[in-house]
Amino acid sequence: MILEEYEAVIKPLLSEKRYYHSVCVSKAAVELAKKYGADPAKAETAGILHDIMKDLPQEKQLEKMKEYGICLTEVERAAPKLWHAMLGAVYLQKELHIEDREILDAVRYHTTGRRDMTLLDRVLFLADFISADRDYPGVEELRKAADKNMEEAVMEGLAYTVADLANGKKPIHPDTIEAYNQAALIPGGKDTEKEGCCR
Ligand SMILES: [Fe+2]
Ligand SMILES: [Fe+2]
Repeated sequence: MILEEYEAVIKPLLSEKRYYHSVCVSKAAVELAKKYGADPAKAETAGILHDIMKDLPQEKQLEKMKEYGICLTEVERAAPKLWHAMLGAVYLQKELHIEDREILDAVRYHTTGRRDMTLLDRVLFLADFISADRDYPGVEELRKAADKNMEEAVMEGLAYTVADLANGKKPIHPDTIEAYNQAALIPGGKDTEKEGCCR
């Protein structure tokens, strides 16, 4: 399927605002992909489809997750904002017959991040933060960071997510903690010499 066909698929499922957001994320993802060497076509697809299930009412999301056999952990059950990503990835596979693991994973982890994020994971995670429709305080700084250094910008995004959840006294998904710790332990994404290894 091409972009226009995916746009037609998501249009009836999303509010006007969310549809516009998806178009903007897709564009931002293509730009980042070109800049950092990811596949622009995959970035475009992941971007346009990443929030496909976000406007489905929560009880319907739960229903569909049950139908698809998605089991929620305690943290996931307590964090409805994560559901659309988990559900979205399975929806893309089952209903749109997308089999590309990179695209499915980028959608699956676009909210939480995860340990060992792929290039496409990072592209979508970041595109969702810096898309043209975003106007939260600090977005300009993050756009600049994304233009300069992808790893640092992803770290900014993860730190924002962790701080935001902690400030709201909300649970933090283990995938986010793992992604954050990995980024904090390996600044700039470069593996440094491992020290303190017991032999
Ligand atoms: Fe999302
Ligand atoms: Fe989004």
